[in-house]
Amino acid sequence: MNASTTPIRANFPVRRMDFSFSETPKYWWDGQPFMTHFMNNLSSLFPYGEKFFVDSVRAVRERIQDPQLQKDVSAFIGQEAMHSKEHAAYNEYADEHGIDLETLELRIKVLLESISKVTTKKHQLAITCALEHFTATMAEQLLKREDLSSQMKSDKMYKLWMWHAVEENEHKAVAYDVYQQVYGGYFTRTAVMLLTTGIFLGVIAGFQINLLRRDGQLFNWRSWKHGLGVLLHPRRGYFVNLIRPWLDYFRPGFHPFDHDTKALESRWKEQLDFAG
Ligand SMILES: [Fe+2]
Ligand SMILES: [Fe+2]
Repeated sequence: MNASTTPIRANFPVRRMDFSFSETPKYWWDGQPFMTHFMNNLSSLFPYGEKFFVDSVRAVRERIQDPQLQKDVSAFIGQEAMHSKEHAAYNEYADEHGIDLETLELRIKVLLESISKVTTKKHQLAITCALEHFTATMAEQLLKREDLSSQMKSDKMYKLWMWHAVEENEHKAVAYDVYQQVYGGYFTRTAVMLLTTGIFLGVIAGFQINLLRRDGQLFNWRSWKHGLGVLLHPRRGYFVNLIRPWLDYFRPGFHPFDHDTKALESRWKEQLDFAG
């Protein structure tokens, strides 16, 4: 077969997963309510959040000229749909412990539907690019830092989060490349990042208080101290380490692949026993 007839394949695969989360300990992050609820908090964003990502890319799909990018878009949609499905299955764990994630998921649905009503397709895609940058850089830290991943004391949760983290890095450039091909430009991309960051942090803070309060853990200061240490420690803080890559997004000419995570992904694919 010569080069011109070689079929184009996506740069990454769609892996079919079917996790079961029953019998997961309630505070599976090192026995810590704050950090467990922080991860529960993130999980509640995904079922409708990732649907929004998919919809925003699909909405401009017919304007993509590059056949390779078309293939990658299909794989991106496949991966994100699978993430949505598995983070919805996560509720099995939440239900067993009386943690109500569905209400939070529905709030995200309402928020994103309201945003969609007052924004253009370009804005929606720019929001996806901004949030994909967050998911990729947050995921990268989970992959890189054993001091974090080793605190997940449930095999099922560990596999879910690390699988998701690998795939977020595999497809981190897709929405961005679509945005650049269809619209391009600097101002909207960066202005939307600023607004999206404000809303994203506000939602996370609100959901965190909600989850802790309803679990009777709002005044568990020991757990707050542990959690805020994990997130905000001046050197090791999970959020603190997101500041630099966040600033990177504002560089003219920025591209998600400027930051190469291929070796890290390969190492984890082997560790998690992924074929592709
Ligand atoms: Fe995802
Ligand atoms: Fe993603």
